[in-house]
Parts: sequence; C-alpha cells; structure tokens
Amino acid sequence: MGFTMGLNLLLLLAMVATNILSLYHLSTTMITTKPTTTTTTNNPPVPDHLLRQLQTIRATINHLTRHHPTTQSTPTTTSTAPPDLLLYTQLSPIASACRHHPDLLHQYMNYTPFSTCPTLSSAAAEPLILRGCHPLPRRRCFSPTPKTQSPSLPTNPFSPVPENSILWANYKCKNLDCYNPDLGFDLKKEKARFLVSKSDLDLPISQLMDIAKKAKSVVRLALDIGGGTGTFAAQMKQENVTVVTTTMSLGAPYSEVAALRGLVPLHLPLQQRLPVFDGVLDLVRCGRAVNRWIPAQALEFLLYDVDRVLRGGGFLWVDRFFSKEVDLDKVYGPLIGKLGYKKVKWVVGKKTDQSGVKNGEVYLTALLQKPVSR
Ligand SMILES: *[C@@H]1O[C@H](CO)[C@@H](O)[C@H](O)[C@H]1NC(C)=O
Repeated sequence: MGFTMGLNLLLLLAMVATNILSLYHLSTTMITTKPTTTTTTNNPPVPDHLLRQLQTIRATINHLTRHHPTTQSTPTTTSTAPPDLLLYTQLSPIASACRHHPDLLHQYMNYTPFSTCPTLSSAAAEPLILRGCHPLPRRRCFSPTPKTQSPSLPTNPFSPVPENSILWANYKCKNLDCYNPDLGFDLKKEKARFLVSKSDLDLPISQLMDIAKKAKSVVRLALDIGGGTGTFAAQMKQENVTVVTTTMSLGAPYSEVAALRGLVPLHLPLQQRLPVFDGVLDLVRCGRAVNRWIPAQALEFLLYDVDRVLRGGGFLWVDRFFSKEVDLDKVYGPLIGKLGYKKVKWVVGKKTDQSGVKNGEVYLTALLQKPVSR
C-alpha cells in the first residue's frame, strides 16, 4: 500500500513536472516563432518534444487510472447489510474511486464523438457514481431520447405522467404499473402522502409549516435527500415552497418521473457533497434512503454536510430513520445529538414489519432546529 502510494505520488509529481515543462516550452516556442509566422500556414506543426511530453502525460494518466483494478477492500462490519449498499456508501476522496473501476470507466468513455452515445456506455454512469466515481468526465455524444415524446406534459405533479417519455430500454419493467406501489410511482397513492398523521412518526406538512411559523422561521427552500419520485417536493409546491430532490435511477426511473412531474431531480449519491452553498436552505428532509444500512461514518459526514447547507434556524427533518433499538441509543442518537440542534420533535416507534420485529428495529422521526448562530 505504502509502496504503491509512493509510486503514485512520484508519478503525480512527474506529471506536474512535465506539464510545467510543456507550458514553459510552449510559451517560449510561441514567443520565438511569432515573428516568422507572418507568411502563415494555418497549422504550424507541433514540435516533437511537445508530442513526446504529451505522450508521457497520457501514459502517466493511463497508468494512474489503470493501476489498481478492483482491489478495494470490503469494509469489515458486523451488520448484515447487503454488500452492494455498503459498496455504494464508501467514503473516498473526490472521484478517486474512478481508478478502482477502470473497466466501468472504460465502458463509460467508449463512444464515438459527435454521434449517439452507446447504451452500454451510458449504462455505466450510475454504477460509477454509486461507487464514488463522481463527478464523471464529460462526453461529446448525444444522449438517446425516446422514439415518441409526449406533446403535452402535466402541470399538476399528481397527474399521470406520459410513460412513453421514459427510455424503457434502461429498465427491466416496461411501464410504471409494473412497480411495487410503495416505490412512489402510483401517483394516486402519492397524493395522500405527507398530509395526514396516522401515527406519531408522521409529520404532516400542515404541522411542519405551523411549527416553522410559530418559531418565526420561514420555509421557502428545501432539499429532500433520497426523495424517490419527488412527492415531498410535489406536496410542498402547493405551499409555494421550492424543494429540490436528490434521487438516483437505481432499477427504476425515479429521476425521469420526478422530472416529468415538473420537479427537480438531482442525480446525486448519498456520499456526495451537497451541491449548494453554505447556509442557504431552510429545510432538509432525510427520507427512506437514509437509514441504518449506511455505515455510521458515512452518515456522520452526510449530517455535517446537511448542517453546512442549512441556515441558522433552519430545520432538519429525519423522517422514519430505522435502526436497531440498541444502535439508536448507542450510535445514532448521540451522532445526531452532536449537531447541537434543538429537538422540536423526537419520536421513536417500533418497526412492526417482519424484518423489524426480527431485528428489534425502531423508527425515529425527528424535527431538529439548527441554532440561529454559532
Ligand atoms: C401560493 O401562491 C399563490 C400565488 O401567489 C397564492 O394564491 C396561494 O395562496 C399561495 N399558497 C400558499 C399556501 O401560500
């Protein structure tokens, strides 16, 4: 490990050095050749030494990106989380994970410039992002669009969306009815969400807005983390609140449907820094995607990034976070407590489905207010 890191550092240094050298050469060549190019040929030949340096830089980059095929160690953990979920939440310095997945990266970048992007190439984008390779390099090809495009889109986010505006080739299902109605694609069912309180774990929007009003804290801008097809954003639209939803299209067209509903889907994995500036949001909601499957360390980074983007006096809504009861007491409760937020609501309830009973799991719903100043 130490050796390869040293090697990489050396290569990096070499790369920087050659870059500086090329720049130096380029600038001197430009100065010296300027007076002679008045009898111009349009493309002066590229000097040999520059070509050689370019090749060195290319070789170095290739080496860096190809050096370690998948040698990533799987995190040691005692929980029984599905391995792919753990894989998707590993912390890595920005985009450094790209080089752990040279084959996927190669697949993603395998296209002909200025023509249609191959399906296989685009299919590699989400697996790369989920594995921490983000931001992705840009490409110069055309993303395919559906053969038929619906002429009219609904203005109401609960009206049926035109399914022929989704590129179904990317999915096993070929229509929205094919999905489990709990996933957020049954818009009739979605229409009732966030409006009424069926248990103490619910926080209906009317109650949320009341709490904010009483605290003299206006809610105008919010972020819904892991918000699926964007139903929270849709309901908040009725309150004239702008909500941006982070969502992936993992196995189902969550992003596409959110967009067809006229809501903003941010294609962003949980381990990614939130793409908004410090202190600009009034509310952040953590939905179903944020739960005990995420390693505690990754969750901690997520919470501190949420703190960064919330303004003083803004709210964090942890919506039905589930974990084992003992972990909530020992790990997650203290983790959330470290933020130093005011507990406006803190309700713990038993998770009564089959796996909840088996694993002694509970739900936590919490509404927390960030201190006005620090
Ligand atoms: C939202 O804005 C519209 C238009 O300005 C207004 O008529 C409506 O009352 C507002 N709704 C809420 C809940 O504030």
